[in-house]
Amino acid sequence: MEKTILITGGAGFIGSHLVRRMINNYPNYHIVNLDKLTYAGNLNNLKDVEDKLNYTFIKADIVDANALSEIFTTYDFDGVIHLAAESHVDRSITNPNEFIMTNVIGTLNLLNECKNNWQDKKDRIFYHVSTDEVYGSLGDVGMFTEETSYDPRSPYSASKASSDHIVRAYYHTFDLPIKISNCSNNYGSYQFPEKLLPLMINNIKNGKDLPVYGKGENIRDWLWVKDHAAAIDLIYHKGAIGETYNIGGHNEWTNIDLIHSLCDIMDKKLGNNEGTSKKLIKFVKDRAGHDLRYAIDASKLEVDLGWVPSIQFKEGLEKTVDWYLENTEWLDSVTSGDYANYYKKQYN
Ligand code: NAD
Ligand code: DAU
Repeated sequence: MEKTILITGGAGFIGSHLVRRMINNYPNYHIVNLDKLTYAGNLNNLKDVEDKLNYTFIKADIVDANALSEIFTTYDFDGVIHLAAESHVDRSITNPNEFIMTNVIGTLNLLNECKNNWQDKKDRIFYHVSTDEVYGSLGDVGMFTEETSYDPRSPYSASKASSDHIVRAYYHTFDLPIKISNCSNNYGSYQFPEKLLPLMINNIKNGKDLPVYGKGENIRDWLWVKDHAAAIDLIYHKGAIGETYNIGGHNEWTNIDLIHSLCDIMDKKLGNNEGTSKKLIKFVKDRAGHDLRYAIDASKLEVDLGWVPSIQFKEGLEKTVDWYLENTEWLDSVTSGDYANYYKKQYN
């Protein structure tokens, strides 16, 4: 094999799309997927590639420094693409500690392994996958650029901001070859139905209320998950060491407009009368500290590396709805077990 690349969090939503892409596009790379398999990690997300010869899965926790040390002794990684994280803002409000452990300490442990194992070795890359939420909340105008000051407001975004700072500190202090990207809201297949779109799709399918926080006026910038995976691939291979790249869809929606569009698509697909799904909308208590608006200026990535999103939002949203309606077994399995408890605590 030409290269061995460690992808952390590869059993999650974005990670599984990236792992699949890297296995298929680079048959000469050995892709090692390290994941703790929390509630959000699911090996069924990778069923179609699990038997590929250039793929290895390791169940491990990035908070466990000894386990990481053993793994780094076994493999000589040419690069690390780090996605493993606690990723859901609502859960960070009810259980911040886990976010600090995984997102901050876990990232630090990985950085230490790379620093200790890569001394005198050339052309290594530690690529940290991060979020636009580190920049805080926008008003009606403006966009986040790579120069925007950090202003995280939730325990989740604060933990990601901390890890971004530590990654940059390892670049400046120890010359660790790093890259960072900060991306907007992803949507697509294999997303755990705690996040807005799959949760709404699942609820419409089951005739359950659609819980809209506050007045539904918050704005998010949506990007198809496969376009995020393509951007990560591009930055990993062509991005400059020490640089940060913002990734986004130029695709802002208020939550309520997005849910209305989703309801219309679902009514058509399910053969409902027009307006049926919209009747399920229920305005509920707002998320604590709910950021008003995110919007990404992705021009650095577009100009420097030639990245453009491959798909229009309307098409991506339809494809996404089709995927969840066709993959009932996947949806049923991830909404069984503990999901009902989570849902009850979060929404009742
Ligand atoms: P996800 O919650 O779907 O997946 C996270 C994965 O990390 C899971 O497979 C989980 O098992 C694994 N994991 C969690 N704790 C771990 C630990 N201690 N050790 C090893 N593995 C662990 O998340 P996602 O939405 O795919 O996000 C992936 C990354 O991208 C995260 O770093 C997130 O901050 C970032 N990000 C997400 C979005 C988005 O819209 N979802 C946008 C921008 C950036
Ligand atoms: O911006 C990137 C971030 O996007 C990622 O870093 C996070 O990992 C990812 O979870 C996502 O964060 P958000 O908080 O924006 O995503 P979520 O799907 O939880 O919510 C999207 C919007 O919808 C947000 O304004 C809150 C609202 N919402 C969400 C849920 C789950 C509702 O109104 N009702 C809901 O039930």
